[in-house]
Amino acid sequence: DWKMDAFVEESIQAIREKVGDGKVLCALSGGVDSSVAAVMLSKAIGNQLTCVFVDHGLLRKDEGDEVEAVFGPEGPYDLNFIRVNAQERYYTKLAGVSDPETKRKIIGEEFIRVFEEEAKKIGVVDFLVQGTIYPDVVESGLGGESAVIKSHHNVGGLPDFVDFKEIIEPLRDLFKDEVRKAGLELGIPEKLVFRQPFPGPGLGIRIIGEVTAEKVKMVQEADAIYREEMDKAGMNKTVGQYFAALTNMRSVGVMGDERTYDYAIALRAVNTIDFMTAESAQVPWEVLQKVTSRIVNEVSHVNRVMYDLTGKPPGTIEFE
Ligand code: XMP
Repeated sequence: DWKMDAFVEESIQAIREKVGDGKVLCALSGGVDSSVAAVMLSKAIGNQLTCVFVDHGLLRKDEGDEVEAVFGPEGPYDLNFIRVNAQERYYTKLAGVSDPETKRKIIGEEFIRVFEEEAKKIGVVDFLVQGTIYPDVVESGLGGESAVIKSHHNVGGLPDFVDFKEIIEPLRDLFKDEVRKAGLELGIPEKLVFRQPFPGPGLGIRIIGEVTAEKVKMVQEADAIYREEMDKAGMNKTVGQYFAALTNMRSVGVMGDERTYDYAIALRAVNTIDFMTAESAQVPWEVLQKVTSRIVNEVSHVNRVMYDLTGKPPGTIEFE
């Protein structure tokens, strides 16, 4: 794509001129936007860039290691990578909390605290990178629907607590599909470029009610099975967003000769154009059956699987 090629080249050039020999800090989530922004910066200024990746223990199965494999010292990029393993901190803060907005607030605030601590160790930086894309700009400006219904902690918010001079937002003019094109142009692995949207608060809002380490494990395992089977069935290319969530409902079941009293997993798959509205996707029955049978057999403390048919509205895509 010659247009994207030119955009990427010009952006890299512009970043180089702007940054000079300054120090740059980036909060890397492993999502598409922050990843593309980070790689662009790293191509422009190499290890003048430091990326801080906070593993809040609410990522999908193996995701922390996958991010580290790409951006860490073994990966292809020249940058300083700091992974903060903050799982225990988050679980402690979240213990006993079941209200969705309170959970979001705790997760968001804890992120700021962890990031702030890391930033202090690094000292004064000249620039802070934000993976803001055009729809974020519009949404926060107009107070977009989702910004009102649920607090999205990753839009805005960051800047006030880190000592820096200026913000760099290299993707500010791009729509999501253009960010992906830029990512491909930059040579970022397809798996990362076409990653599904994943909320900042992560699995914290895909576990209805209280979050515990055990519940995180359940939803991680169930979600990994769901994604694996959807991949195998080729559904990963046709469905907009899909994931497993853990309900806080327990019900009676039977396993062998034993009565069980365990949790129910909810599977969600939606098609959407702009994430403001969505409809449930038609996942083939065989795929759902396979996923269900694997989840109840392989994930301990789960004895039931349900498929959520609700559109948005009245549902939201996430459960909290
Ligand atoms: P909802 O649940 O509001 O989700 O229908 C719409 C889209 O936004 C994603 N989402 C988030 N993304 N931080 C994010 O970056 C968040 O706090 C957040 N909450 C929801 C959700 O996955 C869906 O794609």
